[in-house]
Amino acid sequence: MKRVLSGIQPSGQLHLGNYAGAVQQFLELQHDHEVFVFVASYHALTTSKDPDELRHNIRQVVIDYLAFGLDPSQCHIYLQHDVPAVCELAWLLGCVCPKSQMDKATTYKDKVAKGIPASVGLFTYPVLQAADILAVDPDVVPVGADQQQHVEITRDLAQRFNHAYGNDDRPVFKVPELMLRQDSALVPGVDGQKMSKSYGNGIDPFMDEKPLRKRIMKIVTDSKPPEETKDPEESTIFQIFAALAGRDDGRTVKLAERYRATGEHGMGYGEAKQALFELVMDTFADARNRRVELMADPTHIDAVLRDGAEAARAVMDGVMRRVRSAVGL
Ligand code: ADP
Ligand code: TRP
Repeated sequence: MKRVLSGIQPSGQLHLGNYAGAVQQFLELQHDHEVFVFVASYHALTTSKDPDELRHNIRQVVIDYLAFGLDPSQCHIYLQHDVPAVCELAWLLGCVCPKSQMDKATTYKDKVAKGIPASVGLFTYPVLQAADILAVDPDVVPVGADQQQHVEITRDLAQRFNHAYGNDDRPVFKVPELMLRQDSALVPGVDGQKMSKSYGNGIDPFMDEKPLRKRIMKIVTDSKPPEETKDPEESTIFQIFAALAGRDDGRTVKLAERYRATGEHGMGYGEAKQALFELVMDTFADARNRRVELMADPTHIDAVLRDGAEAARAVMDGVMRRVRSAVGL
């Protein structure tokens, strides 16, 4: 069975972009793959400065994973700080990583441009991510398109390490494959830019009904009147809808037709927003109920995390023995 590894930072409430770009893939893979999904708590420290908020967000990501439908009997869920071996591995990988490779990483530049402090931790973020991945020997890493470069860096570091310390018959690391959704376009937020926890432009599928509707009504549009035909591909509302329902879904096709309609049959943006609101309520009806139950059962969450960390550590112990021996420790 192929092994899968991915993670999400607990830097705020998960949003539709995280769901469509990442979680949906985890849900599909868990049936016929060995799936490890973790909460990237160390990574969140590159941006999060409030301990209470971080503690809350870490817990919330786990609850949301479970509410979305990750099944602990099919998928190992753990916290990054319960497997500190990844920090040791990050050091060892950092020693084969040319500084110039980090200089080329675009996420660092983007985050600094957004005002996030330019710490050493933020700069070497991709090395820790490579350690998260290589520590469990996965075959595939399902992520959203914005993480592609990080997975490429991971592959490169694995190859460098193998070149330095392994031989062709016995590489130290398996070189994992990147996995993107078929429609890998990033989901835009209410302001039309990439939806992101740190940009405050997300749509949280677990919001109460009224604020959720209000949030969706806030999505930016141009000022075309209902009578005028509209290109769905240029619309933020449509992009979010298609990412969630799927491009080939009948509802998406129907909405695209409504966009193109003209004259008295034309569509105003309010109608498209209402369709998106209904889609979100419909898609997450079960998840919303499950989440309420999960919030009331903290001992269940603790047990899931204990089992998940145990399973991850069992794999990592073997990998770390191999790696230490390879470098001469
Ligand atoms: P954020 O940018 O909101 O902090 P993360 O960087 O923690 O999100 O991303 C977690 C996962 O969700 C990653 O696999 C990432 O590629 C995916 N993801 C995040 N935002 C989007 C988006 N707007 N569209 C598609 N996928 C996304
Ligand atoms: N950098 C990822 C993000 O922002 C989170 C992450 C950390 C991750 N380590 C990882 C994703 C390992 C996949 C594999 O979304």
